[in-house]
Amino acid sequence: MKTKMQTNCDDFDSLIYEYDSLPSTQTEAKRLALDGVKKAIIVTKEQTRGRGRCGRNWESPHDGGLYVSFLITPHIHPSNIHLLNFAAGLSVVFHLRNIHGIDAALKWPNDVITETEGKLRKICGILTEAAINGEDVKYCIVGIGVNCKLAAIPPELIYRACALDEYIDDTDNRVLLEGITNEFYKRLECLELGDTENLLQEYISSCSTIGKAVRIETGDRIINGTATGIGSTGELLVETGNGIEKFSSADVFHATICL
Ligand code: BTN
Repeated sequence: MKTKMQTNCDDFDSLIYEYDSLPSTQTEAKRLALDGVKKAIIVTKEQTRGRGRCGRNWESPHDGGLYVSFLITPHIHPSNIHLLNFAAGLSVVFHLRNIHGIDAALKWPNDVITETEGKLRKICGILTEAAINGEDVKYCIVGIGVNCKLAAIPPELIYRACALDEYIDDTDNRVLLEGITNEFYKRLECLELGDTENLLQEYISSCSTIGKAVRIETGDRIINGTATGIGSTGELLVETGNGIEKFSSADVFHATICL
């Protein structure tokens, strides 16, 4: 059952749909897009089929986290879709830093991580899906899952995941949602105005993967090296001993941390 969320912001009120339970906010966003909706924010207290990157599941127990998808119809070129990913990751990082004082950072491409006692753990994952027709982006769905309750993280993931309630006493999903939304729309506006360079620089400054020893698993290869930077189309640059290799979609493991 869908209810409208009350917020202080009129724009939010017309965009936000809150559910108690959904299979996945991504799926619901797609349904809305196919119904002709251009812009919406879909949040739910639980997902029964939450989806992660690379076809993985995203555990989404009731009230365990923030599960939100932004349906947008951005005026950007399809080649810049990775920047939406970056924008979403940065939005979470800056909200956690500025409002909650949490020293969050990004692990390429867009996991949000925090550091406790020298151990880096994932607090948020992002999944961006897009419908593209030639040179046109028909719509994009940017899904963000933030772990809010430590108790809701499955025991097998606890060594590499963390939750907001480890850092702050009161986890309020509304504060989180509004803060992330504001940060995200701000960056989206810049992107639509063509200001891709600032976003890329902001990403590079907040990406903890750069400078780290990394292990890349591409499916058929495992490569060890040092991440040296991010290319202009969002790819990870890695010094492998045989020069710099570029990786645009791969699972990257920081060699020295538990991720
Ligand atoms: C990842 O694998 O790191 C990405 C996880 C993305 C999870 C979010 S939760 C809200 C939205 N709905 C989903 O089914 N997935 C995304």
